[in-house]
Amino acid sequence: MLRQPLLMLARSDKVKAFVTAMPVSSGIVSRYVPGEATEDAVAATGDLIESGLHVTLDFLGEDTLDREQADATVAAYLSVLEQLSAKGLSRNAEVSVKLSAVGQALPDVGEKVALENARTICHAARNAGTTVTLDMEDHTTTDSTLGTLRELRKDFPETGAVLQSYLHRTEADCRDLAYEGSRVRLCKGAYNEPESVAWQDKHDVDKSYVRCLKVLMAGQGYPMVATHDPRMVDIAGALATRNGRSQGSYEYQMLFGIRPDEQRRLAEAGEKVRVYLPYGQEWYGYLMRRLAERPSNLSFFLRSLISKK
Ligand code: FDA
Repeated sequence: MLRQPLLMLARSDKVKAFVTAMPVSSGIVSRYVPGEATEDAVAATGDLIESGLHVTLDFLGEDTLDREQADATVAAYLSVLEQLSAKGLSRNAEVSVKLSAVGQALPDVGEKVALENARTICHAARNAGTTVTLDMEDHTTTDSTLGTLRELRKDFPETGAVLQSYLHRTEADCRDLAYEGSRVRLCKGAYNEPESVAWQDKHDVDKSYVRCLKVLMAGQGYPMVATHDPRMVDIAGALATRNGRSQGSYEYQMLFGIRPDEQRRLAEAGEKVRVYLPYGQEWYGYLMRRLAERPSNLSFFLRSLISKK
């Protein structure tokens, strides 16, 4: 019931200004975001890798309408890739990029700017010996993001995509992207989407997730199973076995701070597990989406706001 209002607040500038006065060290923020500085993210990456996990880093930010901001985001990715490489972490750590953070939403030139910027990041990732995955945002950007992915994959075929099972179109997109060499992260979807394009009922979203998993696991690509849902984790494992996939020919992905014990349990059982690690100052939209998934954290969040200095 609270999901929709929280997702609407995620895009409110007024609420954002109020909430972001809260320091990142505040409990509810630091549960999901290890820090604002690149050094914080690299240190957290090192710790996760040491405990047997893989990482994908996300420099927080989205929906930018400012060219300089988009350029600054590219520079942040180049810097983190350089630091990961220098510390010998880039074999086990890649980056996730939101195209709206690198210019996709700029009027008229958005797609072109986002493609060029994403290309620059892919180049740096390849030099560092790692890969890029394009995050998926709200449904108005899906075609543009998949189009950019197709362009990028001409030069960087290792670039990963994200598909969201709440969208009606996604099973078909899974079929299109289940080819050899294709890396696809399947998630349920985190935005506030209308009935015309997305299932609203959780059970329908879950059923779609299973149908999409079946396509990806039976296909030739590399499925990345992004969920904290114990049922989906079990089903993914069963489908991998049924399709004769060995551990490492697919991976599990979970968000930083969510079900860390399960992340370790899977890794200890020999599964490849990657943690999505967001960092930076623009944590507001990300935090609101996490609260929308888990409204039971809301009272803790409100107490943090009231007690802020
Ligand atoms: P669901 O929300 O149904 O939760 C299942 C169970 O997981 C819960 O019962 C609870 O036990 C646990 N859980 C879930 N959220 C929790 C929380 N916040 N705190 C504590 N426990 C929690 N979305 C998107 O639209 N575009 C994208 O690019 C991405 N990228 C992405 C990458 C990775 C690695 C992950 C894991 C997720 C994404 N997402 C995403 C987010 C995704 O779409 C979805 O919103 C969340 O993963 C929550 O969905 P679950 O599959 O975990 O199931």
